[in-house]
Order: sequence, then structure tokens, then C-alpha cells
Amino acid sequence: MIGVFDSGIGGLTVLRALVARLPEERFLYFGDHAYAPYGKRPADEIYMLTRRGVDRLFRAGCGLVVLACNTASAVALRRLQQEWLPAHWPDRNILGVFVPAIESLSGTNWTAPGVSRYSADRPARTVAVFATRTTIDSDAFGRELRRRARHLHVLQQACPRLAQAIEEGWDESDLDRGIARYVGSLMSKAGGKRVDLVLLGCTHFPLVQPIFARHLPHDVRFVDQAELCAQGLADYLVRHKRFARATEEAPGVHLTTSGDPEGISGNAARFYGEPVTFTHISAPPPGNAPSPARSSGTEEASAAERSE
Ligand code: DGL
Repeated sequence: MIGVFDSGIGGLTVLRALVARLPEERFLYFGDHAYAPYGKRPADEIYMLTRRGVDRLFRAGCGLVVLACNTASAVALRRLQQEWLPAHWPDRNILGVFVPAIESLSGTNWTAPGVSRYSADRPARTVAVFATRTTIDSDAFGRELRRRARHLHVLQQACPRLAQAIEEGWDESDLDRGIARYVGSLMSKAGGKRVDLVLLGCTHFPLVQPIFARHLPHDVRFVDQAELCAQGLADYLVRHKRFARATEEAPGVHLTTSGDPEGISGNAARFYGEPVTFTHISAPPPGNAPSPARSSGTEEASAAERSE
């Protein structure tokens, strides 16, 4: 069984691509709605929450977990892979959504960064990245693209309230106003330069891709991060067959949340394009946990509530 993790419903955009590409697999999705959004939380909290969510998926029987969350991939993935997995789950693995997108944009293989499909005289192109505040502040996309793809000019735009607005099911007209502002700010950074590629570097954002498209120049091309992730996972399973579905497991999808399953199922169906049913699993045990998200506008837990 393959686990798919996100702070909320955004990972459904990735899950949908994974299911389309690998219909014979069994997926267990966990949206950590009780603690969403992650994008405004400090890095240590995101690490701790991600670790807890992945641990939960491993304990439920997943051999492999996909972090369908750019914020968690940018902030927590490397540390989880290098420090936590070897000590606690040496036979399991965690993949992110970040690497397939970087590989595709840069034309490089992550494990062999010197090898590029692009020639040195390839014309410079501009890629616009829209993501959460934490992902942009981590500079994870910018840093890797500058290192691996000198032909790319990278512009980055934080969209601090957008994932939360999507989770809260804002009306299209309100989402439109917010996205128009983010796109306007990105285009002024472009300073009249043509934008060729757009990466919606938060898995919530493809849910509102048509609104982004409405405000961007009509000829930009969107990088399909979910599809790239699905391709990456399919290749990975060919090379690591022990993570593919065990014969005694039935193919299919099971959706779980630490939040309110009814409200989330209704909102998710609106964006997923078909009815979905989440079941509740209890919030992480008390102790060193950051405080759950409160209602709209809630800021991250205080420093005193954080610990590791
Ligand atoms: N969907 C997540 C991402 O890809 C995080 C959104 C959030 O919780 O702030 O970045």
C-alpha cells in the first residue's frame, strides 16, 4: 500500500494522477486538516507534523509514502530521509513532489545533476513559481533550478492565503480577486519579460489552475507537477518492486483526515470533480504537538507550544 500525505485536500491533485497512472495500486491518503495550513508554520513544526503523518501511514501498513505537499517536501523531506528513516523505518521510503518537477524543468536527473538534456546554447526561458510562503522562503525551487538549469530565469511568488482559502471553499469570485493580485505581483517582477512556464508549486493550487490561467498571458505553459510525480512513482516502482501492491491487498483508494470528514468530503468533491468520502482518524496524540489550526485566520502555534 502506498501512502499519500498532505496538510489537506491539495494532495488530491497528486492522488488523482497517481491513481490514473497506477490503477492497480492501493493508496491510503492522509490529509492533516487539524493542523492545516502548513504553509505559514515554522520549519520545525512542519517537520514534526510531517514526520507524525508519515509515521501514521507507515503504521497503517504503507511501505512507501509520497509527500503530496511541496511545503513538506521543501522543508522536511531531506531530514526525514537522512535522519529519521534510517533510525526508525530503515525498510520504508518517502518520496516528494519536488524532485520530479525540478528534474523536468532542469532536464537533469536528480542523482546525476551534471547530466542535462539541454544544450548550453539553449535560449533562456522564464519560469514562474507560485507556492506557499514557507516554500518560497525556503528557496528550494529557486536554489535547485539555479544550480541545475542555468538557462532558466526563475521568478517566485508567495501566495500566503491561497491554500487556506481553497480549504475553506471560498467562492470563485473571491479566489479570483486573490489570484489576480498574486499574478499581478509576479508579472511586475517579470518587468515586461515573457513568462514561458508556470509551476503551481503548492498541490492545492492546480485545483484553481483555470483562475491562474485567466490572469496569466494566454501562451504560458503549466508544468503538470502531479503527472510528473505519477511518472516518477511508476518508474520508481519498476525499480523497487517490493513497494508495489501486495497480492492480498485490493486496489483502490482510502481517504482519511484528522479534521471534520463531512465538511472536507463536500469541499473536496467540488474540486476533485467527483464525490469523495473521507473518514476521520484521531488527531495526533497530545504531548509535544503543535496546536491544531483554529478557525480561519489562525496563525501558527506559539513558540512555547512548539517543541521537538
Ligand atoms: N498543499 C501544500 C503544498 O503543496 C501545503 C499547503 C498548506 O498547508 O499551506 O505546499
